Amino acid sequence: MTEKTVHNLQPIQPWGPIIVKGTLPNNIVKKIDDHSSELLNDPVLAKKYDWSMNLAGNVKQEVRITPDWLEKECPEFVHFLGQMIQSYCSIKPAMNTIEPEKIEKVIIQAMWTVSQWAGDFNPMHVHDGDLSGVLYTRIPKSMDEEKLKEDHYPSIGDIVFSYGDAQHFSENKFQHSPKVGDIFLFPSWLTHCVYPFRTPNEERRSSSFNVKLIPRNQTSKQDKPSLENNSKNEKNYDFKDPTLANRQDSFFAG
Ligand SMILES: [Fe+2]
Repeated sequence: MTEKTVHNLQPIQPWGPIIVKGTLPNNIVKKIDDHSSELLNDPVLAKKYDWSMNLAGNVKQEVRITPDWLEKECPEFVHFLGQMIQSYCSIKPAMNTIEPEKIEKVIIQAMWTVSQWAGDFNPMHVHDGDLSGVLYTRIPKSMDEEKLKEDHYPSIGDIVFSYGDAQHFSENKFQHSPKVGDIFLFPSWLTHCVYPFRTPNEERRSSSFNVKLIPRNQTSKQDKPSLENNSKNEKNYDFKDPTLANRQDSFFAG
């Protein structure tokens, strides 16, 4: 076979779930991290907003971030997330499964912060909702140093997404060492886990969330207005908010 007979080769991979990675602006990272500190460091608030019994994590603390706080104190995150969701839904393999033109509302069902310390881990689990995400506001300074000590299969502090079986020519996991500001969006049913780290007195802090996409024919009169409370204290957002569509930010970093 000569070089001329092999041409125009294109990898085609139409199967499997899509993970989208972005980079959060520093001001949003700081706001979410500061609010998480308020909740985690006050014993009364930490108890009031304790979310650990709803989660799989084997970690020191997990606290809920309410839709009210997001709406009043951090609307820029809601806008960023709206953009990210719209972009996710416009990616071809994902778009083929959900008919984005029929989506009217987006509901942030829940958001919570995970405070992970030495030895803590998050076993394999899935989420509720349609799309889920995770963002990182603190990564231990020791992480790089710890990784250098791993002489095979480095995994300290990594998140791992898993899908399907390992076969020749087909990967069954995506493993990532998070940096502050990283944000991922993925199908809620996608299995994932988080490995522990060992250095004491350092915190790995992330915030996760679940999002529900509501088709046009399933929205009732009572949740028509955007940003209105529903019975579960969730918030509804217009899927095609023009203020989001006009923004030019790019969130396909990394
Ligand atoms: Fe998770």
